[in-house]
Amino acid sequence: MMLFEPAAVGAMTLPNRIVLPAMVTRLSGEDGLVNQDILDRYVRLAKGEPGLLVVEATAVHSSKSGPLLRLSEDRFIEGHRELVRRARAASPSKIALQIIHFLKVARSGWRQKIGDLTQDDIKLIIRQYGEAAVRTQQAGYDAVELHMAHAYTVSSFLSLRNARTDAYGGSLENRMRLMSEIILEVRRRVGDDYPIGVRFDGEECITDGYGLNDSREMALRMAKLGIDYISVSAGGKFEDAVHKAGQPLYPYTGYSGDRCMPPRVYPDGFNDYLAAGIKRYLYDRGYHVTVATTGKIRTSAHAQRILDEGMADLVGMARALLADPDWPKKVRDGREDQVVRCISINVCKALDENFKRVRCYLWPRGAVHAPESDDRVPPAWPPGGAALRVFEEPKGHVRLAWSAAIDPEGVYGYWVERAAEGGPWELISATRADMHATFQDGSAVAGTVYRYRVRAYDLAGNKSEPSNVVDFRLPMSDVR
Ligand SMILES: Cc1cc2nc3c(=O)[nH]c(=O)nc-3n(C[C@H](O)[C@H](O)[C@H](O)COP(=O)(O)O)c2cc1C
Repeated sequence: MMLFEPAAVGAMTLPNRIVLPAMVTRLSGEDGLVNQDILDRYVRLAKGEPGLLVVEATAVHSSKSGPLLRLSEDRFIEGHRELVRRARAASPSKIALQIIHFLKVARSGWRQKIGDLTQDDIKLIIRQYGEAAVRTQQAGYDAVELHMAHAYTVSSFLSLRNARTDAYGGSLENRMRLMSEIILEVRRRVGDDYPIGVRFDGEECITDGYGLNDSREMALRMAKLGIDYISVSAGGKFEDAVHKAGQPLYPYTGYSGDRCMPPRVYPDGFNDYLAAGIKRYLYDRGYHVTVATTGKIRTSAHAQRILDEGMADLVGMARALLADPDWPKKVRDGREDQVVRCISINVCKALDENFKRVRCYLWPRGAVHAPESDDRVPPAWPPGGAALRVFEEPKGHVRLAWSAAIDPEGVYGYWVERAAEGGPWELISATRADMHATFQDGSAVAGTVYRYRVRAYDLAGNKSEPSNVVDFRLPMSDVR
């Protein structure tokens, strides 16, 4: 199974196995309508040609929230129809819409809990999922994805922390009841052939939350109910979120939030074992449902290894494709060296948290979308070369400084690479060229010999020749 091999998912065929998972953009207004910024964002993302592009979480109901797309009434369909039309004209990608139900949160820290919901409220949620799925189909999307992950309503029912005492809480079967009823209702409304995906947590990543032993049973139920693909996520819960005064509780502020959007400190593929465990469980029982994994996957070698080792059928990359939407096209065309690589510093997540327009830290200052360029000429170092200098700063920090590179189109950023003790080069971070040509490495340890080098890149991601290489070692005795 190759990354750029088509994948049949229910009645649709994806041109490749890369998924752009749903990512809220905060580009819509509170009116929930598709606007020009939303159209431009999805056209830009589609141009990179992922196999499946999942449009951000879109509300099935009209409960108040910050800027968020909605499909809670027929009047929202037209905007989505235009989104699909524009994205499809730009790309062979299949386009799905993620639909979500969430409960109320207040700035005081109060939040509505699933225990507050009556039987009628539950019936309404099931109906709202069904109606929004039909609107998704009417808008022309290739598939509907049911959001059952993270801190939102269905996930809170699936949770082992579900404290309901009726038929919707307690046993695993009861916790799965709302999920099952929604899937049945959506299938009933959209017909047998329309692809339905589910996104849910393979592990809650909170104390007393569920793990793989439960999630594989949930996935088996989904498979039995005819789900076409299962997208495995992790964490993102309210239970361990940190409340900031005057702000609504944001479910990605605790450890479970880190597990959902793994920051720099975690290794790539930190959540791969979840999809792998689920896929194995399903396949061993004869259910060959498409499984997608996501969580800090950034290189084609990693993505291909996931497929080779049978951990998943589809590879999700959210922040990596926000940083560089052209990742799929560049890798397919043998130009991976031109990828502008996500550095997992989660500025996008902080923008989402504060209801600000989601963008990538690496994009040029002020850009609303990722830059585009067909330039093939890489940046060059000035006549004196990069003149990379590496020196010690107080408290065990290492400072790198170099001369600015030159590019006809403008230098976009610099890769900072490090090799420890004669090992391979690793990308440790990237800096924006409109900041300074300097970087502070706070992760070097005394006594280890490091080699440092930097490479400049332009808007198309063309990389310059590496700078001069500098060997550096923090002296043991100087670390205070
Ligand atoms: C800004 C932002 C918005 C997100 N919005 C959604 C969303 O709407 N629905 C969803 O299921 N996941 C959402 N996620 C989670 C991502 O889909 C993805 O699972 C997560 O970022 C980890 O994958 P990555 O390491 O490839 O970025 C969001 C992530 C970010 C950074």
